[in-house]
Amino acid sequence: MKILGIETSCDECSVSIVEDGKKILSNVVATQIELHKPWYGVVPEIASRLHTEWISPVTDKALNEAGLKLSDIDGIAVTSMPGLIGSLMVGLSYAKGLSWAAGIPLIQINHIEAHLYAPHLEFDIQYPYLGLIVSGGHTLLCHVTDYNKMEVLGTTIDDACGEAFDKVAKYYDLGYPGGVAIDKLSSKGNPLAFRFPKPNLYKGDHKYDFSYSGLKTAVINQIEQFIVDEKTDKSVENIAASFQKTAIDMLINKTKKLIEDSGIKRVVAGGGVSANSYFRKALSELKGIESYFPSLKLCTDNGAMIAGLGYHHLKAGDRSPLNGSVFSRVQAFKKKYP
Ligand code: KG4
Ligand code: ZN
Repeated sequence: MKILGIETSCDECSVSIVEDGKKILSNVVATQIELHKPWYGVVPEIASRLHTEWISPVTDKALNEAGLKLSDIDGIAVTSMPGLIGSLMVGLSYAKGLSWAAGIPLIQINHIEAHLYAPHLEFDIQYPYLGLIVSGGHTLLCHVTDYNKMEVLGTTIDDACGEAFDKVAKYYDLGYPGGVAIDKLSSKGNPLAFRFPKPNLYKGDHKYDFSYSGLKTAVINQIEQFIVDEKTDKSVENIAASFQKTAIDMLINKTKKLIEDSGIKRVVAGGGVSANSYFRKALSELKGIESYFPSLKLCTDNGAMIAGLGYHHLKAGDRSPLNGSVFSRVQAFKKKYP
């Protein structure tokens, strides 16, 4: 089965064709990064306008690169939540048009579940496992028993991890997207130059939760309070490396706790922050743990993960109607306020 996957939830306009949930025949990712750079963040209005202009040529390119015509496609999968409403509407409306005109079944896809599917495109991964989804909008630790069955056990109570990378980078003018810039600068800094605070979320309902707003405030507004001693070099490289270590250690520590409590020794990571070099090293060095990450190109938003997950839904007989809608948030993935 050849599935065409459409992803327009944020600032990547991507269309991919994947065969049988595994073989990527094409994966075209047209990124808007350069066009949002002046604002240090995604401007929703600009994002949806660009998707409107780009979606049709990007689809043509994906079909051409795969050497296929629309009539060769068995199903259309499209992200419909969570994300920026205007951007999601462009992708979903376009997918409905293709589905109606060509008589091809349609399936709406949850973007977060798709991030977790990304490593399945490259590796054979057995269920169950612990899923760690870390992106610009989400920080989730979950128990995953199938492609469509995940129970969220931990989430952020304030900012998402990627959001903290972006805000710290914006404040210190390090570059955009923030995560990529901080990752690069960190390789030249000392991760122990500053001792930044970690949240005290160990008990009850919050034992697998995360918090990034305290760390963000410390790095942006209270940097002097966290120097290790008077000789500390307050270079941006040292700030970046110490921030990165604290932010990522938080993810690793909560994952270790859940591994201990659940006895599940397999961890699958996904989302933009799973491209982080320190994160990949720290997770893969956990002793006795099988860990999987998508390759760098599949960490950030792409149509291949949508098409891959779509295959399993369509094969199971799931279909979306032509009057379906988009959602900016998913109830189960919401921030958990204390
Ligand atoms: O998954 P994604 O492309 O979009 C969302 O669904 O949010 O993730 C984007 C996020 C941004 O916050 C970006 O700064 C972060 O992923 N990111 C990174 C790295 N590459 C991207 N964060 C840390 N280190 C990286 N190498
Ligand atoms: Zn994403």
